[in-house]
Amino acid sequence: MLTEVLPVDPASIARAAAVLRAGGLVAFPTETVYGLGANALDSGAVARIFAAKGRPPTNPVIVHVAAKSQVGQVVAAWPQLAEILAQRFWPGPLTLVLPKRAEVPDVVTAGGPTVAVRIPAHAAALSLLRAAGVPVAAPSANRSNRLSPTCAAHVLRDLDGHLDLLLDGGPTLGGIESTVVDVTTTPPRLLRPGLLSAGDLEAVVGSLQRPGTSVTERALPSPGMLPRHYAPRTPLICVEGDGQTVFDALLASGLRVGLLRFGGDGTTGVATRTLANDPAAAAAQLYAVLHELDDRNLERIVVALPPDADGWLAIRDRLHRASS
Ligand code: TXA
Ligand code: MG
Repeated sequence: MLTEVLPVDPASIARAAAVLRAGGLVAFPTETVYGLGANALDSGAVARIFAAKGRPPTNPVIVHVAAKSQVGQVVAAWPQLAEILAQRFWPGPLTLVLPKRAEVPDVVTAGGPTVAVRIPAHAAALSLLRAAGVPVAAPSANRSNRLSPTCAAHVLRDLDGHLDLLLDGGPTLGGIESTVVDVTTTPPRLLRPGLLSAGDLEAVVGSLQRPGTSVTERALPSPGMLPRHYAPRTPLICVEGDGQTVFDALLASGLRVGLLRFGGDGTTGVATRTLANDPAAAAAQLYAVLHELDDRNLERIVVALPPDADGWLAIRDRLHRASS
């Protein structure tokens, strides 16, 4: 192991904050997935995130702050809708896209006029952000296009030696990334479904433009919507229904095949995993299970998709991206 890994305690938080202020890279847990953080106002530090991840410069990163009072450091406007959503859902897995301040370097926003910002609901992340005293740009702490990390071992597997410090806060509880909403438009636009469900958002904002519902939407360069993202190395095939027919056919053709399903009869073979038949519980385990299947030297992973229902939107989205 090349990267220094520290448990979450006051001394480590102070160390990590100093690393961030000095322009270094710190991986830290949030309630969704682990982030790879750098001082968002230091373009050189943020450029190191892109280098470490192999992330294309066209994909902007999320800025994390400790409190609403800090948002003004990065955003140039704070519409009523942002206030309502922040009141209701922050700290939490909701990322708001807003007009950016000139001080935010282009590398953070991919040269665009907006910045994505959120307050994570995780004690260690909040302590780190408070101690650092600067807004922290942090994409998920994985190589670009790979599965997001939900524990310290996942971070090291992709990025060991490419960051200065890793705060190990144990497994993350949420398991999938935050929901990204553009609040510069009316009605607001869902850019990436995530841990906070679209239904919960709509209960507060009324209507929400959904991704992929119009041609213009699909044409927009919203990088989180690149078709291939969050993918394991093993080719992954999504099927509706229980997946058994496809699984059996692939096995019969002599391939080493894994199967992932939701609910069902709980049958477990060597490479069969059953996730909870509940979106939140399944999300918490999703990446950990995909990482695990990906490590089993399989030639295919068959995923029996959960129902095409609103509550499963984010999980179906991640699985489809993992398969394309
Ligand atoms: O849960 C999360 O959101 C995690 C934790 C670490 O906070 N972070 C995360 O970051 O998933 P990342 O970089 O893997 O995903 C950022 C998403 C991408 O879909 C990106 O396109 C979108 O946010 N995004 C960032 N800035 C944006 C902007 N200005 N406009 C539109 N989308 C933006
Ligand atoms: Mg990511």
